[in-house]
Amino acid sequence: MAHRLAAQARADLDEIWTYIARESGSETIADRLINSVTNRFHLLSNHPHLGRARARKTSVVACEASRLARTSSSTGWQAPTFGFCALCTAAAIWSRCSAVSRGRTTNLGALPIAAFGRIIVPNLENSPMNAPRNTQYRYLETHKIAGALGADVEGIDLSQDLPDDVLAEIRAALLDNLVILFRNQKITPQQQLNFARRWGEIHLHPFMQGMADHPEILEIIKTPQDKKNFGGSWHTDQMFSPQPAMGTMLYALEVPSAGGDTMFTNQYLAYESLSDGMKAMIADLKTVCVGDNGKQHGGQSRAQRYDRQMAHMKVKEPGNVQTTSVHPLVRTHPETGRKALYIGGHVQHFDGMTDEESEPLIAFLKQHSTRPEFTVRVRWETGTLTFWDNRCTQHFAINDYPAETRIMHRITVRGDTPF
Ligand code: OGA
Ligand code: MN
Repeated sequence: MAHRLAAQARADLDEIWTYIARESGSETIADRLINSVTNRFHLLSNHPHLGRARARKTSVVACEASRLARTSSSTGWQAPTFGFCALCTAAAIWSRCSAVSRGRTTNLGALPIAAFGRIIVPNLENSPMNAPRNTQYRYLETHKIAGALGADVEGIDLSQDLPDDVLAEIRAALLDNLVILFRNQKITPQQQLNFARRWGEIHLHPFMQGMADHPEILEIIKTPQDKKNFGGSWHTDQMFSPQPAMGTMLYALEVPSAGGDTMFTNQYLAYESLSDGMKAMIADLKTVCVGDNGKQHGGQSRAQRYDRQMAHMKVKEPGNVQTTSVHPLVRTHPETGRKALYIGGHVQHFDGMTDEESEPLIAFLKQHSTRPEFTVRVRWETGTLTFWDNRCTQHFAINDYPAETRIMHRITVRGDTPF
């Protein structure tokens, strides 16, 4: 099976090579792009989910080929842009390649292509990246709410059992926008759980106790009695786990009249905006991430701190669950193939370095990764469900509503081992 998949993936790459060589008029360019993709592809092909679905694996490869082609300054060649994101372009290239391989020559300009559940009508004129991109979906609309990341998603009722192609569009919207908001939802805990389960296994928080009848759901509650809030510093969820949360779905049941917003930051941008020198320096660093770091909190454990300052949050002992992990500082997103800075509050020091040695660089990267132009600030309403991708973002729950109550239901979906 695996052998056949690998052979097919190689054949797909050959097709993409042919396409790029023909379109760019240069075999050298095609060689360079495909080699670069192939290196990543070896990483990706060990990935458990991608290994199962050839079509998706091929799309990831095509996606990466297209992204490199579009952004490649080393080759000086720009792939034709269709006015949509790299994913669409990739899917378009891939579809064209498969059509060609089936002995049909297709005219891309006239071909609507279904990929990731979207109808893509190629638009061969260049259009700016930030133009509204609402027409690329069949079932939903997205409206960006900041330059860096974040979009409102319209047209989805999360209480329903959503068909696969609707879910595929939501996935595309998440990969494009990193943080997506569904407004005015009315869902029960069971419905939230049904939606979350479509994305993978639920990640149970090692330190936090779930709801009595739904142990997978954490109630995030802050009342006027509580001084601190859950998630009140920059972090990415469960980074201390060997397989940290891929995504978090937070559903607002009660929100303050003002305040209680959540900030998010785009870690692709944080990485991409570093200098080449810094990128080279950090390329192989690994971080040691700790879930219950008494050192930073005057020797107090999570349970002790939460007990005094977040009385409504139910803690538990992690038992044998692993809560310290080592991760790459620069991680490759398993679905988009893009590199992101992977840093947050759980990072203690670099693997193989002392706290003192690590501290200056960690402090710089934390500050850099949360620059205002990389962020979005989400304003909650009752009924908002926000779904974020922890693999390429950090977030921060703002504690600015001392006299009011905020109640959320939270589910995290388990992710991959970061690479
Ligand atoms: C979380 C978290 C943010 C918030 O649930 O992981 O950090 O705004 N919450 O409540
Ligand atoms: Mn969090």
